[in-house]
Amino acid sequence: MAVRPIARMGAEVLKRRAEEVTEFTDPALPALISDMVETMVAAHGVGLAAPQIGVPKRIVMFFVPAGRNNGVDVPLTVMINPVITPLTPETNDDWEACLSVPGLTGKVPRYNSIRYSWQDIHGQRFERTAENFHARVVQHECDHLDGVLYPMRITDLTTLSFVDTLKAEAEAKGEELELDEEGEAAA
Ligand code: NI
Repeated sequence: MAVRPIARMGAEVLKRRAEEVTEFTDPALPALISDMVETMVAAHGVGLAAPQIGVPKRIVMFFVPAGRNNGVDVPLTVMINPVITPLTPETNDDWEACLSVPGLTGKVPRYNSIRYSWQDIHGQRFERTAENFHARVVQHECDHLDGVLYPMRITDLTTLSFVDTLKAEAEAKGEELELDEEGEAAA
């Protein structure tokens, strides 16, 4: 088990479609998931996808702190072969950041409400619904499995910014940074 280097925007492994996991008895699977957890925690992320540590398989993980989800904590969830179904055509724009795009943030449209399903390490399938930040994190992570990074989803590219610059400008104006609420946690 180890903390692995995180692939950055431009890396081939982040551009391709990751492959379904079919061998749930593969002894490399629990080891890979352990490495992903360690890497995510070390990077202070709220989510991570296997391609981000160089492994083109359809595995993601995330958690949602209660403070960012109307008081409801979503514990660490490891998802193999996840599938998302939007429950509404409506989207909302909010700040996102990504461990593969360090230092930057931008406002990204995401579906307000989704249903998602996944397999656990034994191959058993589960399903949940999600809204708001919870739904946003799941959409961000699953995009990594299809070679999509959040800047590719931004409709208003004037929002794409360095976090440090936004912070310095807000501080200079004595304003509270809207970003502090939603834009700090990278995934
Ligand atoms: Ni990301």
